[in-house]
Amino acid sequence: MSKILEVKNLNIAFGFKKPFKAVEDVSFNLSKGKTLGIVGESGSGKSVLASSILSLLPQNAKITGDIEFMGKKINGINEKELRKIRGNQIAMVFQDHMSSLNPVMTVGKQIREVVMLHQKLNKIDAKQKAIKMLELVNLPVPKKIYSKYPHELSGGMRQRIMIGMALSCEPQILICDEPTTALDVTIQVQILKLIENLKLKFKISIIFISHDLGVIFEMADEIMVMYAGKIMEFGNVEKIFKNPLHPYTQALFSAILISGQDKKKDHIILKNTLNLERVECGCKFSLRCPYYHEDCKNKSPELKEYSKDHFCACIKI
Ligand SMILES: Nc1ncnc2c1ncn2[C@@H]1O[C@H](COP(=O)(O)OP(=O)(O)OP(=O)(O)O)[C@@H](O)[C@H]1O
Ligand SMILES: [Mg+2]
Repeated sequence: MSKILEVKNLNIAFGFKKPFKAVEDVSFNLSKGKTLGIVGESGSGKSVLASSILSLLPQNAKITGDIEFMGKKINGINEKELRKIRGNQIAMVFQDHMSSLNPVMTVGKQIREVVMLHQKLNKIDAKQKAIKMLELVNLPVPKKIYSKYPHELSGGMRQRIMIGMALSCEPQILICDEPTTALDVTIQVQILKLIENLKLKFKISIIFISHDLGVIFEMADEIMVMYAGKIMEFGNVEKIFKNPLHPYTQALFSAILISGQDKKKDHIILKNTLNLERVECGCKFSLRCPYYHEDCKNKSPELKEYSKDHFCACIKI
């Protein structure tokens, strides 16, 4: 399977005196045409990781490691080179569609500007392209929507606009950071279907971040489970859902089963839920792990291949 994005030993820290490690030694590949789902609780580093791919992190972020797009390193490149990638090759859709859109410009013009900037089209052709994108994301009467301001549209419509804008330059990778979290369930389903259809139509690769394991199961081919900036488990989505190996993944999954129908399933209770302090040495999850062992404190477990397309970072595996 051909790799389109390769992340190697990525570390991201904030601050200077006592740097806070938001992402620690993360390595993974994204294959062409595949969707990688990223899950993990709030603060686990999902958005920081996603933003680093497009160099969208603030100045105080210290990054080491490599991010390669089609075999070429893209972290640390200059603004001019970055602009060729950002939007054109890799695009991003955020949860917050209101602050991502300019409130004083019609949505059509905003897409037109993006197309003019990246695709060097003239105004007339760019407008046509913008209307085509509005049509593609299934907005009714695209020509009318073109002249609307963001506040005149619903949350679901605005998110469709964001997706249309992201795809208007035909990127190879779409990064979606909780794209449906702010929407109600029925609209959520429609947007997820739309992303899925566009993925097949444009043959793009997707990085899809969500808190919702059900959504990840529906959308992703591979899943990456993050905890405190590290990968706990990684691999084929069906394999991991069928047989979660890491105690943290098991806890995540047991929590959804409890809230669903299967009440008989044992709910794994995590320890020290209020202890948000990061573990400096050993397994990041050790303080909360129900299967804690002395050794967990000493060794930082490597991501090991348990079976084909199934990796886990726990000394017990
Ligand atoms: N600009 C910044 N300066 C300092 N720390 C930051 C900065 N941005 C993020 N962090 C920290 O990095 C950690 C990871 O944040 P991140 O936003 O990636 O979490 P997340 O997994 O996306 O969480 P959520 O599910 O809530 O969106 C957090 O502890 C956060 O406080
Ligand atoms: Mg986030």
